Amino acid sequence: MKSDILFKPFEFNGFKVKNRIAMAPMTRARSKKRDIITDLAPLYYAQRASAGLLISEGIPVSKEARGYAMTPGIYTREQIEGWKKVTEAVHKENGKIFAQLWHVGRRSAKSITGTTPLAPSAIKNPDKVYGPLAEGGFGLIETDFPKAMTIEDINRTKQDFLQAAKNAMEAGFDGVEIHGAHGYLFDQFMRKDANKRTDIYGGNVENRIRFVLEIVKLLVEEIGADKVAIRISPFVSEIENYDEEMPETALYLMKELNAFQLAYLHLSENIGNFREVSDSYRIEMKKIYKNPIMVCGNYTKETATEILEKGWADMVSFGRLFITNPDLVERFKNNFPLEIDSSESAMTYYGGGAEGYTDYKKYGE
Ligand SMILES: Cc1cc2nc3c(=O)[nH]c(=O)nc-3n(C[C@H](O)[C@H](O)[C@H](O)COP(=O)(O)O)c2cc1C
Repeated sequence: MKSDILFKPFEFNGFKVKNRIAMAPMTRARSKKRDIITDLAPLYYAQRASAGLLISEGIPVSKEARGYAMTPGIYTREQIEGWKKVTEAVHKENGKIFAQLWHVGRRSAKSITGTTPLAPSAIKNPDKVYGPLAEGGFGLIETDFPKAMTIEDINRTKQDFLQAAKNAMEAGFDGVEIHGAHGYLFDQFMRKDANKRTDIYGGNVENRIRFVLEIVKLLVEEIGADKVAIRISPFVSEIENYDEEMPETALYLMKELNAFQLAYLHLSENIGNFREVSDSYRIEMKKIYKNPIMVCGNYTKETATEILEKGWADMVSFGRLFITNPDLVERFKNNFPLEIDSSESAMTYYGGGAEGYTDYKKYGE
């Protein structure tokens, strides 16, 4: 396809990017002690700063929000200072970076957070997360049975997100993306199978989207709509259970989100247990949601160009291709060959040091 739409700048309501290509949020599980981002991260993100927008790895907003060992937080002074070095390095390369703010909800274990995992309801799925093994070292461990959040837990979590957004601003991020996807806390609240509450946060769709909407509102009021985004994945299920109403629930959420004029709504597709997003759903989405849409999940230069040209999205984010191709934008632009993500590169997704993290080269280097 000849179109160069991917490389054109995009602007909406104060949110401005130099091209339509984003780096998707990707947990790399390399944090230092006390969950401080690794010293290699400034280089890793700066290497990829030719993207219109970088989205950070999922950043737990508090200790109890954590679900995976070695994921860097943004709730202590040292953690904020660590992130400052990342945003400075990205800005030096003329890049932009949003922080993905994360709470895993029930997808956690006491051995990771020190407390019982929190969930809309005390319901557990068979599920494993990356944590400390009984025999020493780290590996996949079964999640613990969660506790249903009380209203105090919900209010405290709102404050944690607010504080994390303020901390992200202090650390120099250009904005924040609320992680509302992939079976984590807000997705759990939206899903009927995970949320059996009988209070104002459960039951009908208005109630099930209430928690995440309240957080969106808090963050928009604090840091401005051009600095707030949200990621959702209505066609992806946490395990094998599929909430048939999720696509409708997501449309309802989008209708409510319209008024905020967020930087973008990030639709994560084609990951884990997923169903295809139909053309008719995309058309419906565009009718309902009037603000910028970013899509992600197995896109190529060609399919990304196609969806932008159709007007069904404004930006496309790429995950695995950005791990192996730090200069993905230039490679796309010049039709240079891509370093394909493989089972070998997957071995260094999580944990470890520079290998598979900062040692991928630009084309021709
Ligand atoms: C190593 C790795 C870590 C990921 N971590 C996150 C994360 O922290 N937050 C998130 O929303 N998605 C995460 N994802 C999903 C990606 O953002 C993206 O949706 C997925 O990789 C599909 O896009 P792709 O086909 O372009 O790689 C992760 C994916 C990978 C490969």
